[in-house]
Parts: sequence; C-alpha cells; structure tokens
Amino acid sequence: MKTLLGRPAPSAPADHLTLRRGAARVLIDNWTGTSTVPSRTLYPHQWSWDSAFIAIGLRHLSVRRAQRELESLLAGQWADGRLPHIVFNPAVPYGAYFPSPDFWQSSRAARGVGAPAIPETSGIIQPPVHALAAWLVHCSDPAESDRRGFLARIHPGLTAWHDYLLTHRDLGGGGLAAVVHPWEPGMDNSPCWDRPLARVEPAADTFRRADLDHGSPTDRPTDLDYGRYVRLAATYRATGYDDRSTVHGFAVEDPGFNALLITGELALARIAEHLGHAGGAHTERAADLTRRLVDRLWDDSAGLFRARDLADDSLIDERSVTGLVPLVVPGLPADLVRRLLETLNGPHFRAPATRLVPSYDLSGPSFDSQRYWRGPAWFNTSWLIERGLRTHGWHAQAQHLRQALVTEAGRTRFAEYIDPLTGEGRGARYFSWTAALALDLLLTDDKEPLP
Ligand code: SER
Repeated sequence: MKTLLGRPAPSAPADHLTLRRGAARVLIDNWTGTSTVPSRTLYPHQWSWDSAFIAIGLRHLSVRRAQRELESLLAGQWADGRLPHIVFNPAVPYGAYFPSPDFWQSSRAARGVGAPAIPETSGIIQPPVHALAAWLVHCSDPAESDRRGFLARIHPGLTAWHDYLLTHRDLGGGGLAAVVHPWEPGMDNSPCWDRPLARVEPAADTFRRADLDHGSPTDRPTDLDYGRYVRLAATYRATGYDDRSTVHGFAVEDPGFNALLITGELALARIAEHLGHAGGAHTERAADLTRRLVDRLWDDSAGLFRARDLADDSLIDERSVTGLVPLVVPGLPADLVRRLLETLNGPHFRAPATRLVPSYDLSGPSFDSQRYWRGPAWFNTSWLIERGLRTHGWHAQAQHLRQALVTEAGRTRFAEYIDPLTGEGRGARYFSWTAALALDLLLTDDKEPLP
C-alpha cells in the first residue's frame, strides 16, 4: 500500500522533491477526514470535479484516501443517477459558502427525484471526470483496490451517473449531454455563457455572496451574473430538480463536458472488464459519442470545438479552452487532432508569460486576464490537454506543458489559476487540484502508456 509519504523517486531533482512535499502538504491540510476541500477559504465543502482531480493526485500519497474521496462523493448521489456538484459538510456554518444547503434544500425539494436525506447537496452537476479518476486510482495499486473491492463498490454508481447524463440530460436530442447552469461545465464565468445567460432575468439581490469574503471582486464573477446563477438554480429547485418538467432558461452542449464523458465511458469499459463484465457497450457508447461530438460541436473554420446553445440550436461564437479539451478523446479523427494542435499553438491560445493554456481566446472581445474563466490559465484543463497530447503521440509538446504545469504550481504556491499575460498567481492559494495534478505529473512516468 502507498503511504502518505509517497513512494521514493531516487532520480528526482531536489526542487522536485520540495515541490512534492509542498503538494502533499496541501492535500494533507485540505483533507477533512472523508474528503478534500478545494480550498479552505473559498470552497469549504466537497466539490464534484475537484474531487475527481484530487483523487488522481491523492492516489500517489494514499490509495485509501483517494478511494475514500470518490466514495464520499458518491454518498451524495441521487436515485436518478445525478452526482451533485457539491456535497455539503454539515460541520461548516451556512455563512461560509453561498448558496448553502438552505438554498438548495436537496433533502426536501428533491425527494421526488431521489436526493438522499443526508448528506445535503446542491442540485446541479459538474463534468464527469469520476470514472477516469476511479480507474487511475485503481491502476496505481490494483492489489489494494481489489482487496478492498473498490471498483465493484463504485461501478454501479458511476454507471448510473453516466446513464443519467445520457438520458435525462440529452435535452437537444442529438445524443450529447447538456448542461443547464454555467457552473455545470465547471467554467463558471466563461464568455461562452454570456449570450445564453443574457436571456436570464437576474434574481433580486437578496442574497449575500460569500465568495467575495475571500476572492477579489476583480477576479470573481459580477453581481449581475450571480443574480442569474441564482435565478437558474432557484427555477430548477422550484420543479424539484426534475429535468423533465423544468423549462431550462439555459441549456448548452459543452465540448469539454462531453469529451470527459467519452473518456469516462472508456474508463467504465476498463472497469467493467476488470470486474469480469463485458465492456463493449461502453466502448461503443464512447465511439458513438465521439461521432456526435464531431457532428454537433466541431467548427472547421475556427479549428476547434464550440459550445452549442440549445435555445436557438446554434454554435456559440467564442473560442474557449473547453473547445480544446476534446484532445483527450483517443478516437478523435487525426485531421481534427492536427487542427486542434495548430489552434493550441496559434495566436489565440499561446500565452506570452506561461505555457499553461489560457481559458479563453487571448484576442477575444471578452478576454480578461484575471477574471474567472475569462482568460486565466487553469491547471486542470492544462492537465487534460497534456494527457490529450500524449494520447495522440505529441510527446515533446506534452513534456513542455507538463514541465510548465509543475513549475507554475510551485512558483505560485499552488494557485487556483494564473494570469496568462503576467504569469501572476490569482484566486485562492494552496488549491487542492493544483497540488494534486502537479503531484500526479511529478510521480507518473510520461513514457508509460496511458492506462
Ligand atoms: N465555482 C462555483 C462557485 O463559485 C460553483 O461551484 O461556487
């Protein structure tokens, strides 16, 4: 079994050893006993896609903790299969985060679609990175995983989660999963959401934002956008979070979200096969989703994937890192991979101060180098693109990005994100997924085939 001290890496340079220790410290300090908070200040509960990325790093310190991280999240799963984007820690006061459990009211309002009585959760979702995380956690110590029955225990929940996405969330009827709130694709404030969000009437300003207690107003979404986030969530709550009866004011097919669903399906195939079941249905689903992703979201003139606004069934005319994340899909046609590479290396995404990938087009009309997902470079998307580059055999470029991610994580004290023009760290520090993903890249061999 791996221990909290990690495994020895005799050839690691001294600065890498310091970085490893620093990253481990972040994950130890942010561990609550059952899961990891993304940030002790800004995000004091358990977040869904954060936990998946965190498990990917945590597996190098303690396979058991990494398993626990994912199992704690699945404890908040609803009977309809949805994995909520937040599982609330009852020990944290309501005022520490908004919207708190008394806003979402999951145990009461969502009884009809099977929210658990405990824990309290949010009612929206985040990208499906969990099956990939579960498979990677398993692969880092298969004997320990089998001994504890880890995959057998979480396989049904992961399958139900993907089934939910492919049925309840196929709102466009084109076979892809739709998101119904800008927080669901994980890129909260991206300019991609400006047009669909503009149709939403903001909620009255009767709530108190807790994020501004910890983050600078120049970094965070505006009050106007918060009013719209609250309106969308309150409308969903009013129908008991029932996807069939809610008239969604925001419905978008996001390329990054669907690309992660595809990698998740491929991971589910591996998991099913390991458990002695047939994995073919998941592999076929992944191939089918890949075709639909290309048909519905590829924009050949721009050389990247776009989000589709289901309100008017049109592609949203913005270049965002979400349009590059499909590099992580192994079955992407080779000509599209080449085009994505050109876009990644071209003027829209080649940042002057860091090789991390900016979240939004550097020359786009809404570019803002500091504000949430409107330009800053995030570590999780760069980790995904690094994986995508290796998936398609672009090892030298992957190595470059890998090195940048590790260096920037250490230099910025594991910042939440980075200003792509100056290289300055922004947002929270000692951010869990930054530490986890840096640790993962420090402790995995980039020459090994991807599991
Ligand atoms: N990141 C969003 C927030 O600020 C949604 O989780 O709470």
